[in-house]
Amino acid sequence: MIPTVLVLGANTGLGFEATKHFATMNPARLILACRSETRGQAAVDKLKAQTGYQHAELWLVDLSDLDSIKRFADKFEADGGRLDILVENAAVSTEMFRAGEDGIESSLKIAALSTPYVALRLLPIMLRTAREHSSIPRLVVVSSEVHYWTDIKKEVIDDPMNIIKKLGSKDYCNLKNVMGTRYWLTKLANVLFVRALTARLPASPTLIVTAVNPGFCSTELMREAQSSGIGAFVLSIVYALLALTPEQGSRNLVFAAVGEPDQPGKLQGQFLFNKQPVEPSDFVVSEDGKRAEERFWYDMLDIVAVYRAESSRPNDPQSECASGLGPSRAIESHRGDPSPSCPASLTSRRSISAAFGEWDDCVREESSVEVFRVAPEGPNRTRTSASANGPKCRLITSPRRASDWIHIGRVASIYYT
Ligand SMILES: NC(=O)c1ccc[n+]([C@@H]2O[C@H](COP(=O)([O-])OP(=O)(O)OC[C@H]3O[C@@H](n4cnc5c(N)ncnc54)[C@H](OP(=O)(O)O)[C@@H]3O)[C@@H](O)[C@H]2O)c1
Repeated sequence: MIPTVLVLGANTGLGFEATKHFATMNPARLILACRSETRGQAAVDKLKAQTGYQHAELWLVDLSDLDSIKRFADKFEADGGRLDILVENAAVSTEMFRAGEDGIESSLKIAALSTPYVALRLLPIMLRTAREHSSIPRLVVVSSEVHYWTDIKKEVIDDPMNIIKKLGSKDYCNLKNVMGTRYWLTKLANVLFVRALTARLPASPTLIVTAVNPGFCSTELMREAQSSGIGAFVLSIVYALLALTPEQGSRNLVFAAVGEPDQPGKLQGQFLFNKQPVEPSDFVVSEDGKRAEERFWYDMLDIVAVYRAESSRPNDPQSECASGLGPSRAIESHRGDPSPSCPASLTSRRSISAAFGEWDDCVREESSVEVFRVAPEGPNRTRTSASANGPKCRLITSPRRASDWIHIGRVASIYYT
């Protein structure tokens, strides 16, 4: 029996079909995370009727809204349960520019920011599960073969502006062909995230992380095209001729979640299709791809850090950098700068702590450069701090098991009072 499974975007398409497969395995807990209560409840009812599994739970989360993710993850932490399988399946395919207050185009935000943010918030719970139950949890990020069809231009990778904000800005999205290929970029962002996270995991697997390609399937993903009569007609023919059913495609998600039980390490960090690791795109493995991977990772952390800073202490004057720069600028100004002249805000520390676990007592160095390691909650918590004047890490507290560490990377400089 599998213990706890959580599927994001579970009310329809591949997510729902994967959930049905999981239900037939009779898991201790099966959580359908959906953005709409009505559609989510309908899916839970359908699941019960079609599989006989009666314990499915509906949790609400809207991945276009970081507040919603925060509430979702806070609730999961407070719930105190284990998490063995997390399937990050929710996505949008759109050619229309839509953005919330942060101005980041919504489908890119879901892939490049929200999907990593959910994973990083739930990572400590998965690591605790691994430790307490001697298991190897799995994180499955649903990507696609369309990531082969795009890349990211050198000038974007080299641009000092946050890469997610740049690619998600209205100005950039208004450029020719950008929104027409936006979905491909979102799926590339999924692959880059999986590789960036895997690079920070310990060699002996504590957690298996994969990107999976379900294949071309007849789901609601192309709902924009389906909304016009002619589009719906053309798609129905294309689907009939070429597409897998959602159930067939969902088998790929299930394989990533439970396949290779005797050698799960074979799957680590891989791009999976048809039950096996396949090469990701040439761009992904190129030098530029590697640089893009790092840019997405650190720029995602910066946005999350600033979000946490602003959402935890919105009116605190100390949340501003000493030079008068806002927290966002303060954090971004430190990338690659070993001796920052402007210390980042106090709230950077708080925000990271709130974003990635319980870190409240972590920083004891003034103007130090943080290297965060997420460890499971409890007495094993640990963190390191690198001095601003040198690259050597100094251990602040000792873990019992170093294998629990995950190197998150340098996030921000810290001004500690
Ligand atoms: N279908 C394909 O041919 C294909 C091929 C390769 C990869 N994929 C990938 O497979 C995954 C599933 O896609 P699908 O084909 O099953 O599409 P789908 O039928 O449109 O399902 C997408 C799911 O994501 C949810 N979702 C969208 N935006 C969300 C948000 N802001 N917050 C929370 N949930 C949100 C949707 O909820 P609502 O119903 O409320 O919108 C729905 O449950 C996606 O990652 C997609 O990129 C699909």
